[in-house]
Amino acid sequence: MRIAVLKERAAGECRVAATPETVKKFIALGATVAIEEGAGAGASIPDEAYRDAGGEVTAGPLAVAGAQIVLGVQAPDPLALAGAQPGAWVAATFDPFGARERVEAYANGGFEALAMEFMPRITRAQSMDVLSSQSNLAGYKAVIASADVYGRAFPMMMTAAGTVQAARVFVMGVGVAGLQAIATAKRLGAQVSATDVRSATKEQIQSLGAKPIFVENVAGIEGEGSGGYATEMSEEYQAAQAELVSSHIAKQDIVITTALIPGRAAPRLVSDAQIASMKPGSVIFDLAVAQGGNVEGSVADEVVVKHGVKLIGFANTATHLAADASALFARNLYNFLSAFWDTEQGRPVLDEEIGDAVRLTQGGKLVNARLLE
Ligand code: NAI
Repeated sequence: MRIAVLKERAAGECRVAATPETVKKFIALGATVAIEEGAGAGASIPDEAYRDAGGEVTAGPLAVAGAQIVLGVQAPDPLALAGAQPGAWVAATFDPFGARERVEAYANGGFEALAMEFMPRITRAQSMDVLSSQSNLAGYKAVIASADVYGRAFPMMMTAAGTVQAARVFVMGVGVAGLQAIATAKRLGAQVSATDVRSATKEQIQSLGAKPIFVENVAGIEGEGSGGYATEMSEEYQAAQAELVSSHIAKQDIVITTALIPGRAAPRLVSDAQIASMKPGSVIFDLAVAQGGNVEGSVADEVVVKHGVKLIGFANTATHLAADASALFARNLYNFLSAFWDTEQGRPVLDEEIGDAVRLTQGGKLVNARLLE
């Protein structure tokens, strides 16, 4: 079994899909691992470290030659996979809804595309879930990046020259990223409040010492929601939410928005009028900016100043913490493939529940139920 790891080609992508630690572990399973030269540079992993772990560091086409599995953070261009074994697996993120053409190119190339973002949200797959591992880091980075451009301090400070007030931070969307954003803002000493449409998050917000701000007069989503995901809310709910947010947001210094709905554009949570109600110097970090944005007027990788409020958001937040993000992403991939390793065949054999969920293409066809819907 030959596993290939290519240097990421997407603009601004600094992560890598394998680390010396996971290379060593794959080799212990009986695989050989070939890594393209310089693949780890963006994550501060020199070629030497992969060699020391037993990996073969070589040019891209040589790494891919004869590979049965290719690992990626963002799926490589199928043209870069010439020379891989027919039917080779490619385990990476594919943005299956957004990059449909690339998925079709994978089918035409005869590859088996395994979309890590379609990992089912079941207990045994938690350690394989790249959305969780990367969102957690993104939630942290959103707060740190906001603190960096905020012209004031986060914690309350009593000094001889007077008191510095604690920043008020409002987190909208309390999934994996939102929970980490709350925890990080609390650690920095901010006064934190948070909201979500899923009622299960209320207790989670309180357990982190933050204040829940919830729509009370219109029903939201009971419990965790389906598979932990939110759905699009009714117009009545959206109107009630907008009213609630309007009264709360004007008093906030930092707003972190994280709301996503799988397969759809991100819901709009903050309007231009609401931005205008905030104090000059406030900061809004839109973690959903690459999925259409939760905040009116936010632009990926730019600082947009509206009504004196700074709107920020990264096209790819996890890449800003490339070393940790790669370490966790690589472990997710290892946990996934090793869980299904068949020692007799010397390769992984996926079961139905997880295999059918993540497999996009097989035998030259698109096979994923979510994509065929
Ligand atoms: P996500 O990234 O899809 O969405 C982020 C948050 O935005 C969610 O909490 C969602 O409810 C919220 N949201 C959506 N529309 C909104 C709106 N209009 N207003 C306010 N908030 C809105 O979600 P994420 O972070 O990927 O996961 C959500 C939940 O899934 C987690 O809290 C967890 O309970 C569960 N989960 C379970 C896993 C497992 O069992 N393997 C793995 C990962 C998550």
